[in-house]
Amino acid sequence: MQKQEKIVQMFNDIAPTYDVANRVLSMGVDVSWRKYACKKVLKNYQNSEVKIVDVACGTGDMMGMWQSEAGLLGVKIDELIGIDPSSGMLDEGRKKFAGFKFIQAYADKTTLESDFADILSISYGIRNVVARKEALNEFNRVLKMGGHLVVLEFTKRSKKGFLTALRDFYLQKILPKIGGAISKNKEAYEYLPNSIEGFLDAKGFCNELENAGFKILECKGFSMEISTLFVAQKVR
Ligand SMILES: C[S@@+](CC[C@H](N)C(=O)[O-])C[C@H]1O[C@@H](n2cnc3c(N)ncnc32)[C@H](O)[C@@H]1O
Repeated sequence: MQKQEKIVQMFNDIAPTYDVANRVLSMGVDVSWRKYACKKVLKNYQNSEVKIVDVACGTGDMMGMWQSEAGLLGVKIDELIGIDPSSGMLDEGRKKFAGFKFIQAYADKTTLESDFADILSISYGIRNVVARKEALNEFNRVLKMGGHLVVLEFTKRSKKGFLTALRDFYLQKILPKIGGAISKNKEAYEYLPNSIEGFLDAKGFCNELENAGFKILECKGFSMEISTLFVAQKVR
């Protein structure tokens, strides 16, 4: 099996316990990171209609957040589409959000038409995309000119220090034990710290976004920089 197929198979395997493990491992704080990201971008679209695409949507939590925050901010959602290659994650998403539209596809081949979306998000997904450069070009193609790209991700640390050591201890020693116990799949939760190490630091990812035709509007670390938010705009 190719690397990308193995990653998707791993998500198929952990899909039934993904939400519980996620809430326990993040102690619920991921909700506040998602909320901040959605609010920040939706403020640009008050009193208008938007098309939103959530790539690597998994079980649909980011889609749920887009819907609730849009309702609060007076933004009308014309279309809200979730894209993910894992049938297991999509099945869980469909159970939670029966009215949402889901498409089984990879980030670099979304099947959507060009200049379709006002907002495209990917939360804790880009690290898993093997064809990352192609995916960023695809996001640029699918977004309208001036449209917003929102990425939430665990980035590699550029500086070493006490907080980095603490985070690494949690990710490498504690998280695989808890995630493994909940999902009965320790290997999948050992993959998480390894995939962060294999990803970029925040600056490196900003460079990739700029190369793909985006202007960085915000690059912000949350909770001792555990999670990073990138908000970028399609400028070419
Ligand atoms: C950690 S989960 C994140 C799910 C969801 N976005 C969230 O915030 O909870 C990562 C997701 O990325 C998906 N994924 C893996 N490789 C992908 C690819 N090449 N293109 C799109 N999604 C991918 C997985 O199937 C999985 O659902």
